[in-house]
Amino acid sequence: MERIDRILRGLLDFSRAPQPKTERVDLAAFLGSCVQALKDQRQLDGIETHVKAAELPGIEIDAGRLRQVVFNIAVNAHDAMNGAGRLDIAAEAVTHDDQAILESKLHGGERESRVAFTDLTRRGIAFSSRPSFDAGERLVAVHFRDSGAGLSPDAVARVFEPFFTTKPPGQGTGLGLAICQRIIEDFGGVMRFESRAANGDGPHGTVVSLYVPITPRRARAEDRDDLLASLEAL
Ligand SMILES: Nc1ncnc2c1ncn2[C@@H]1O[C@H](COP(=O)(O)OP(=O)(O)OP(=O)(O)O)[C@@H](O)[C@H]1O
Ligand SMILES: [Mg+2]
Repeated sequence: MERIDRILRGLLDFSRAPQPKTERVDLAAFLGSCVQALKDQRQLDGIETHVKAAELPGIEIDAGRLRQVVFNIAVNAHDAMNGAGRLDIAAEAVTHDDQAILESKLHGGERESRVAFTDLTRRGIAFSSRPSFDAGERLVAVHFRDSGAGLSPDAVARVFEPFFTTKPPGQGTGLGLAICQRIIEDFGGVMRFESRAANGDGPHGTVVSLYVPITPRRARAEDRDDLLASLEAL
């Protein structure tokens, strides 16, 4: 496992620009252009796609790598829907809050919704890693909901493992989500995967969510170092 991890990181470093190239990204426009590009490449044939991303703050992010994540997740959704279905992509700004969630619900009137990661160990839900956001930290969340066949809880528990795939040999490497995970975690974020397998007549499908800090981690660490340096210079 450790060796695979090293190889993946090596591949990522290889494909990465020498300097992480961050730019200010308007998520609504960005997600729209990703979907258009996927359609042009005929990767969403038969899939009805809706993008909803209203009034979001711009985020400082490496757009090329974020695009890689969006493409991976959308293609997975397409594959799960077997030629027909619906993919909903929704982005929202949320505030991380693992304490006062009830309180804020009671008082209402909040413009931004709050997120608490209370379902870390629920069956049918997997996180790429344990979320470690600060209380009150502002995040953008992007949710990809598909109406596909879904996955069993045992498979969900393994989705982020490198080389885990349910696709026939030659059709999937099982590296897609492992690479997404590393990119999102480089951004200081976390991925969540929730699925319900088709069995009988209940609802089925998958929601893959990304949570990324609005203020990038790396920039923040630099800010802090600058601040410390300037304090020391006093
Ligand atoms: N939206 C989804 N619905 C149902 N199952 C999914 C979905 N996304 C991922 N999976 C499951 O997770 C497995 C791993 O996905 P991942 O993207 O890592 O690899 P892959 O798609 O199999 O291969 P590759 O990405 O290299 O083409 C898939 O084989 C599939 O079983
Ligand atoms: Mg994939």
